[in-house]
Amino acid sequence: MLEQINQTADFLRSRVIGDMPKLAIILGTGLGPIADLIEEKQVIPYSEIPNFPISTVEGHAGCLIFGVMGGKRVMAMQGRFHYYEGYDMKQVTFPVRVMRALGVETLFVSNAAGGMNKGFKVGDVMVITDHINLFPENPLRGKNYKELGERFPAMTEAYCHDYVALADKIAEEKGIRLVHGVYVGTTGPTFETPAEYEYFRVIGGDAVGMSTVPEVIVANHAGMKVFGISVITDLGGKDITYVPTHEEVQQAAITAQPVTVAIMSEMVARV
Ligand code: HPA
Repeated sequence: MLEQINQTADFLRSRVIGDMPKLAIILGTGLGPIADLIEEKQVIPYSEIPNFPISTVEGHAGCLIFGVMGGKRVMAMQGRFHYYEGYDMKQVTFPVRVMRALGVETLFVSNAAGGMNKGFKVGDVMVITDHINLFPENPLRGKNYKELGERFPAMTEAYCHDYVALADKIAEEKGIRLVHGVYVGTTGPTFETPAEYEYFRVIGGDAVGMSTVPEVIVANHAGMKVFGISVITDLGGKDITYVPTHEEVQQAAITAQPVTVAIMSEMVARV
């Protein structure tokens, strides 16, 4: 694994012109257009990157973008690898390992999620304050490589508290509605039954989705600071029998774009 990480990092260093970024962004469902804010773009399709899996889902373009955003060098993943696509946890989190090998210290993650919190509305943007890992596996299971991180990493501040506070400050300055919440990560690809949404709410979740948790675990293992947002694309619970379609999830994420773009770009400029 170490060899593969270094091989991919070496490839990117040789391919990309300019300094390697300290900040990386993973763009979730419907959030790809945030990539439009990146200037001096160098785009590398996943298919050209050694050891990278290939993303298969509609709405996930599948490329790494290097460039400048808010005056900072950044790299962005347009499209991520989901556990439900059949990738194993090491594949899902491989890009985060490569980011760290390149020198990335801060990871921004974004996703589309279903809301269980009764105060949420479709189109809300939720700052992730914590998560609950309900994937059947932990990406750190197996041999621990000391070079990558410690055996038993703490997860008490999986999402950097200072970043949450900064996002709140930005939202207040801009008059943007931002909610906070705990993200529940599940495998999918099914959306939840009404009883499952209710269960996730009762155990402390505010939103549920099919990504993010594996990448954030690995980022913490690697000593990176994490900021995450979820776009609430549908609502679920005991009395809600409505079933979202993938298209509606994407559409709701697009509706929330002015907010996600404002928060993300301002966060990038100010961290
Ligand atoms: N459940 C799981 N994943 C999701 C949802 C949902 O309701 N909405 C968007 N991604």
